Amino acid sequence: MYILAIDQGTTSSRAIAFDQAGNIVHIAQKEFKQYFPQPGWVEHDANEIWTSVGSVIGELLSKLTAKKIAAIGITNQRETTLLWDKNTGEPIYHAIVWQSRQTVSICEEWKQKGYSDAVRQRTGLLIDAYFSASKIRWILTNVPGAKAKAENGELLFGTIDTWLVWKMTRGKAHVTDYTNASRTMLYNIHTLQWDKELLSLFGIPESILPEVRSCSEVYGYTTAAFGGEEVPIAGIAGDQQAALFGQACFEAGMAKNTYGTGCFMLMNTGAKAVSSQNGLLTTIAWGIGGKTEYALEGSIFVAGSAIQWLRDGLRILQKSSDSEKQAYSLASNDGVYVVPAFVGLGTPYWDSDTRGAIFGLTRGTQREHLVRATLEAIAYQTKDVLNAMQQDSGIELKNLRVDGGAVANNFLMQFQSDLLGVPVVRPVVNETTALGAAYLAGLATGYWKDRNEIAQRWQAQNTFTPQMPIAETTKLYKGWQKAVEAARLFK
Ligand code: G3P
Repeated sequence: MYILAIDQGTTSSRAIAFDQAGNIVHIAQKEFKQYFPQPGWVEHDANEIWTSVGSVIGELLSKLTAKKIAAIGITNQRETTLLWDKNTGEPIYHAIVWQSRQTVSICEEWKQKGYSDAVRQRTGLLIDAYFSASKIRWILTNVPGAKAKAENGELLFGTIDTWLVWKMTRGKAHVTDYTNASRTMLYNIHTLQWDKELLSLFGIPESILPEVRSCSEVYGYTTAAFGGEEVPIAGIAGDQQAALFGQACFEAGMAKNTYGTGCFMLMNTGAKAVSSQNGLLTTIAWGIGGKTEYALEGSIFVAGSAIQWLRDGLRILQKSSDSEKQAYSLASNDGVYVVPAFVGLGTPYWDSDTRGAIFGLTRGTQREHLVRATLEAIAYQTKDVLNAMQQDSGIELKNLRVDGGAVANNFLMQFQSDLLGVPVVRPVVNETTALGAAYLAGLATGYWKDRNEIAQRWQAQNTFTPQMPIAETTKLYKGWQKAVEAARLFK
């Protein structure tokens, strides 16, 4: 018997089977189309997402020798917003992706109306186009007939977890979990309820919202692709919270950083929702068995997607993995800095209008410099976040657990450790997001006993320790700060 994790990410859908030892038995992955209808807008077709999920599940099952699946855990790109017709099951508009900036003006209006404090106190977030609320508002305003349909109770809203569970249960369950709800900017993370006052300020009818459930329980059953057999869907968490769980960061003060499309650092703060003074988000880490735990989060919008830009946009890399060799081919960055603010800047700046910039070019600048500077930028942004996190939590980080595609890059990991001045630890199982979702589903169904069992299983594969002299990292980081400052002047 295996646990099946579905990891529905920003650029691809994956299905991963885990065995009782928490090892990966098999992975199937499928990319799907990204839509960029206007500069700064990013959208997905929710039916294409559903098809991609069906196809990776089918592929995975065809490769497994033991077909039996004990339970399914779902983890997903967070905030991405979808509205669909309750009766036909058809989306009324594309899913608006978390990165999309098409709702900046709605957010500006809400800020001007003075809603920022209420949002901060109740949801732990700040008003930004990143979160779901303004995306829902945009669809209700811009899709003809949507507002009336929503008011008549004919529309359903969901983040991608909700959409998948609804599809998998053939419309029986319209649910989400605490972690995904906490990213909508509509959910009170202290009372654990949809916030009626915010809903009314934003003009969003409560009838479209899913029921919010814990991260580890049976939400419904699916037979889709399982030959008629009913398999319980028993775990849901947003991908960053799932990674925190998969990294076994169960104690307050433990943190992980995931290098995916973006880069997200979460620190477990236990039962306390710590409010940030430095541009971090307060968010729900998970709610399990009646207990809620919180996290501080730093959100970097562009990380892995900057390497994709080198490959697909500038075409100076053939494969993303070539970036490691190119970066190592130089002795230093020679003063070149890339600020990859392609969709604005998240933590700690929260600046929607800044765009990407390159500084320090000379006649001697080669493509290797751009590659190295882009990798370094991921590490600098992480340092910005860690600084904010240590100030807010008062906790000195002992080490940073890392995961996601880019952690295979040894140059990046070593530079990250140099810059942060703490060990950076890469685990044996790098697929921690999917693993976290699998653990949540397995705990609900008795496949795994408890968190202790999970924590004991976590193992480091490689630890990068700081090597660079502090004077040098200080100088490099100052250069980054100057570059960001300069990029922000150009709007
Ligand atoms: O908040 C957005 C995040 O959930 C997306 O994650 O892995 O697709 O970069 P990822």
